[in-house]
Amino acid sequence: MSFGHDRERGIRRRSRWVSGLAALAVSAVMAGNAMAQDASTDDWEQKPYIIKDGKVDYGVYNGFRRYHASCHVCHGPDGLGSSYAPALVESLKTMSYSDFLEVVVNGRQVVNASSDSVMPSFAEVPDVMFYIDHIYAYLKARSNDEVGRGRPKRLPAGEDPVFKEWKASQ
Ligand code: HEC
Repeated sequence: MSFGHDRERGIRRRSRWVSGLAALAVSAVMAGNAMAQDASTDDWEQKPYIIKDGKVDYGVYNGFRRYHASCHVCHGPDGLGSSYAPALVESLKTMSYSDFLEVVVNGRQVVNASSDSVMPSFAEVPDVMFYIDHIYAYLKARSNDEVGRGRPKRLPAGEDPVFKEWKASQ
């Protein structure tokens, strides 16, 4: 599979502006909206990953790890949901990247007579905000049915432009 210039540019932009500071997350939401007009960003939003012969890029791989460190206690293993929180594998079939980011940054709370469901805000949690594009990439790949359950296999570093971009941005 080849990936065009636009696609590489989309990945590079994303990894640069998610510079890991929770304080930037809110402006990142706004930047995300502005960039939605950009075709390469739309591509990234729909398919924010590279998968070759069943092997995933660094973003998806790291997203798997981060998801299982911070989200799976409520959202279930492999994004499949639990009795407490929705299956993100389903949510991402219709949810935009910026809506996803908005919920993770601000949290969401529905408290009434029949429900006390709380999605915490992760704005102050660098271990989540720093890797939020990776978590999105993992969940989107799951949602698009391109990654199965369990720990995915990684592409070799030399064949993984996402890994190179990520390293270069650190
Ligand atoms: C303490 C439990 C808990 C944790 C941990 C948690 N969530 Fe949630 N999350 C929830 C609940 C409950 C909801 C549903 C909130 C509601 O009723 O609207 C939710 C909703 C969401 C939604 C909106 C889904 C939809 O269909 O509207 C997204 C996106 C989301 N969570 C992402 C994450 C991510 C990413 C992580 C890890 C960084 C995470 N959550 C960690 C409890 C949690």
